[in-house]
Amino acid sequence: MFQINDNYLQLGESYLFSRIADKVKQFTATHPDADIIRLGIGDVTLPISAAVTDALHRAVDEMAVKETFRGYGPEQGYAFLREKIAETDFQRRGIAITPGEIFVSDGSKSDTGNIGDILGGDNIVAITDPVYPVYLDSTIMRIGRSDQTILLACDEENGFLPAIPAERADIVYLCYPNNPTGTVMSRGELSKWVDWALEHNSLILFDAAYEAFIRDKEIPRSIYEIEGAQACAIEFRSFSKNAGFTGVRCSYTVVPEALKVKTPGGEEVSLHRLWNRRQSTKFNGTAYIIQRAAEAVYSPQGQKEVDEMVSYYMQNAGMIRAGLMEKGLTVFGGENAPYVWMKCPAGLDSWAFFDRLLEECHIVGTPGVGFGSKGEGYFRLTAFNSREKTEEAIARINAWQL
Ligand code: MLT
Repeated sequence: MFQINDNYLQLGESYLFSRIADKVKQFTATHPDADIIRLGIGDVTLPISAAVTDALHRAVDEMAVKETFRGYGPEQGYAFLREKIAETDFQRRGIAITPGEIFVSDGSKSDTGNIGDILGGDNIVAITDPVYPVYLDSTIMRIGRSDQTILLACDEENGFLPAIPAERADIVYLCYPNNPTGTVMSRGELSKWVDWALEHNSLILFDAAYEAFIRDKEIPRSIYEIEGAQACAIEFRSFSKNAGFTGVRCSYTVVPEALKVKTPGGEEVSLHRLWNRRQSTKFNGTAYIIQRAAEAVYSPQGQKEVDEMVSYYMQNAGMIRAGLMEKGLTVFGGENAPYVWMKCPAGLDSWAFFDRLLEECHIVGTPGVGFGSKGEGYFRLTAFNSREKTEEAIARINAWQL
């Protein structure tokens, strides 16, 4: 009889956002007239911008003409996009990342999960609690639930910044600006992690999907702003939230050439080589038309439009923060990130607050406990809905008899 990967049996019943979608579906079936406002999953609502749409149309037209049609592209991404990324996101900011170190992909969700393919099964993996569920679930899929996974508590006491583990940790997932708490990591804090990783030959998997939302110029937008990080970190970036690509799908992962590891036999191996090998075997590249769309994000017009979209969402975040504070609630995040993290009132647990907010205000959010046990008693709201819906949500919460 064939066997399954029984690590899957150790996962929670369903993926957090699927569970929420099911609950909302059930609610709408019994309340068909309810005007539901979605501040749950971090999905954007503004359409892709004009520069991007124009590029998409042009690329589609190219595909319809024999002379400009393209079949399989390079698995790592087209040079035109990798060059723009390296230049705009890194070199112009004084970071020496080259196009060859960039792997274009179809989403940070896939890459943060798939990166485990090139990592050994005996590693001790440190994951924050609360956390974006993909890191934990994909680790469980790979190595099962075991004491090889250690959870780093992020709570009010430590400002939602994990302490460096006292025990051995070979790999750590960090996400800053943070999903779900909306908090950021200062240059000083991030430097401590880089120094620790270099000292212990550990690997940092740094998810910077929300870097575009950083308003404070002192906060690092890339881990490679920290000296030495190229020798100990892989960085994940996404076009989903800044450029509205959640449905378009494009992201990239930086695996620096300097990132090397020694095998037990003493051979030095490059992670860049392994990831390249993995991608060439299992991935056929992001669609040409989508890469042209991502390229347009880097045009002067594209950059202007993306800045406007990010500012729009950050104004929503500011309104949510202010509205909740006015209601007397304790809030975190939302200043350099599109997520506002709040403490549930009146001793309600996360799911009880979810149910009441849905039933009494017709607003969907995300229960903090869905991101880990340390998220119990907290709740996440996103800034990605429209201005009108966000205003309406705040008005409903303010009029609410809690
Ligand atoms: C979230 O709501 O946490 C995000 O939308 C998840 C994601 O980007 O996959």
